Amino acid sequence: MDRYDLVIRNATVIDGTRAPRYQADIGVLGGKIAAIGRLDAAAAHVEIDAANKVASPGFIDSHTHDDRLMLSAPDMAPKVSQGVTTVVAGNCGCSLAPAPNGMRAPVTPPLDLLDEGGGWFRFPSFADYVAELEANPAATNCALLVGHTMLRLQTMDHVERAATKNEIVRMRELADEALAAGAVGVSTGLYYEPACEAPTEEVIEVCRPLAKRNGLYVTHMRNEADNILASLEETFRIGREVGVPVVISHHKVAGQPNHGRSTETLQLIEARMKSQPIGLDCYPYCASSTILSASRAAVASKTLVTWSKPHPEVAGMSLDEIRSEMKLSIEQLLPAGAIYFSMDEADVQRILAFEHTMIGSDGLPHDAAPHPRLWGTFPRVLGHYARGLGLFPLETAVHKMTGLTARTFGLKDRGVLKSGMAADIAIFDAGEIDEAATFAKPIQPARGIDTVIVNGAIVWREGKPTGARPGRVLRRG
Ligand code: ZN
Ligand code: CU
Repeated sequence: MDRYDLVIRNATVIDGTRAPRYQADIGVLGGKIAAIGRLDAAAAHVEIDAANKVASPGFIDSHTHDDRLMLSAPDMAPKVSQGVTTVVAGNCGCSLAPAPNGMRAPVTPPLDLLDEGGGWFRFPSFADYVAELEANPAATNCALLVGHTMLRLQTMDHVERAATKNEIVRMRELADEALAAGAVGVSTGLYYEPACEAPTEEVIEVCRPLAKRNGLYVTHMRNEADNILASLEETFRIGREVGVPVVISHHKVAGQPNHGRSTETLQLIEARMKSQPIGLDCYPYCASSTILSASRAAVASKTLVTWSKPHPEVAGMSLDEIRSEMKLSIEQLLPAGAIYFSMDEADVQRILAFEHTMIGSDGLPHDAAPHPRLWGTFPRVLGHYARGLGLFPLETAVHKMTGLTARTFGLKDRGVLKSGMAADIAIFDAGEIDEAATFAKPIQPARGIDTVIVNGAIVWREGKPTGARPGRVLRRG
């Protein structure tokens, strides 16, 4: 008789490849999927009845800012409550490491979205950060990016300019060390100060080690509004000149005058994909969230404040309410974060439905009143967009958060439910799954998630974390 650590019985298997669902049992042994099929005769320490439920690969959140959450709240409740088993961290140019020179100045935006004065930027090398994650694992696995903005802050005495030759050499060394220590790529946040001062050539030269280390280039582009086509071309050029795949972060077209332009951007992306590897991710909402700025608020139809250092009491309020009731201006709230309603639902749906789009939350785990994408992204795609609107079949929705993402990031033994793969599994009720988080009440575990398994260990069951922390730092294979 076969013996397993865990058997999932009577599941509807959606395997992450987009193949049609089928009925089977799943046997897990030693953290891996050992068998899928009829396992009537098998014995196991733990049995899970998944009748009338879907078992799929655990979801991979292709875009997160969970670098510090993995250490400060390792249960990873916002993520495992959605079925997420792996997070890609270090996005938008922001990573916790390396900090060979410490943080000499107060942490400025956008880096403060990871930590604002809590002493978390304390890893002299990227290897030190990886070692800490391996010594004190989180509930989820991670794939890590090293941030160009962080490299600039560690290397340049004045960041409001292009880097010099010597500074570029130093940044390149740090990027190379990070990749050798386990990072899967370099991220940029060229939209933000101070990375926006970096010319394309600086980015290319800093990213050179990606080629020999088999890494990828991931970018919050310089512009996601009027100049989006030029920013796409800049991204593709960086990929070509360095000779590596690129990933366009949280693809969107922002600002009312640009509504509808996802037809142009997707056409361009598809055309360039014929000659170079390109990926993209998207979150399923027509509101964005980042630091508060007057220029962003000016082009949004509505702005909600997610946190404010000098006025924490305004978190969750709209700018209009804050202006009229509290008589406070934007300047008085800074530093602060915000949610901007600035996208068109038709663009969001077109981008989500695009064949090559991965799902990524871009959740901001340390905001007082976070964008609901932090707790709701994956169930919203499965519930609202796939089941509710019929934007794509459930098999396609699952693929966009599993197999496609694992392939894009080179996570070899993840993203597909088959024998021999790591046992990262989400079990959910396809008729019930949906987000519970709203803009008014954003901190809410999703509905319909039954059990979540990471490397064979149950991390979420009966609506709460189990305390297991089996997460690993994943390398690009
Ligand atoms: Zn970003
Ligand atoms: Cu981001």
